[in-house]
Amino acid sequence: MTAETGSAAPSLGGLLEELLQHGAFEAALFALLLAGALSILWYTVRTGVPPMPSNPFARKAMFRLIPAEARPKTIYELGAGWGGIAFELAGRFPEARVVAIELSPLPWMVCHLRRLIQPRRNLEIRRGDFLKADLREADLLLCYLMVAPMRALERKLAADLRPGAVVIANAFALPGWEAEETEVVGEAMHANIYRYRVPG
Ligand SMILES: C[S@@+](CC[C@H](N)C(=O)[O-])C[C@H]1O[C@@H](n2cnc3c(N)ncnc32)[C@H](O)[C@@H]1O
Repeated sequence: MTAETGSAAPSLGGLLEELLQHGAFEAALFALLLAGALSILWYTVRTGVPPMPSNPFARKAMFRLIPAEARPKTIYELGAGWGGIAFELAGRFPEARVVAIELSPLPWMVCHLRRLIQPRRNLEIRRGDFLKADLREADLLLCYLMVAPMRALERKLAADLRPGAVVIANAFALPGWEAEETEVVGEAMHANIYRYRVPG
């Protein structure tokens, strides 16, 4: 390549300058933000649950309710959102396989980006519907959903889970199951955190 042809090729800086001058950068950024917001809205309507993270106090209580003697081999977070709980689980249980399932693409992508700065070799991040996943290997499951999804989840758990499996639910109960332990978190608007254990 000659010096002449080399200088004719636009540099990255020049290209960005050009885009900024013509407002294309702002337009692209706006389109990206709009697509993200619409995607969140669409999946919130579809699943019936927004990707709102658990309150930090409620999250602490969820971890407190994990039985002290628990040595789970397979942990599921059902509806992982932006990954806060799944990453903490993977850190606290390095010997376990932690599976984070999230249907909404934007939070799911953020979980993947998060792993670039917070590596967790035992964390599997899956995009999908947990109602269609095979949960038979689960020893421990955590979730923060809403009333209607908890009804659907209850049927799924009754079909899949093995005796002894433990379920920790933030704020919304499994309506037909009896919790073996409940903690009320005053700092999280008196949310109940429930622990269930599959009998047998
Ligand atoms: C309230 S957020 C909780 C996020 C995180 N678990 C926490 O507690 O911080 C619930 C998440 O569940 C996801 N979700 C709801 N139903 C789902 C389904 N059937 N399959 C996969 N993800 C689902 C939603 O997209 C949302 O991101």
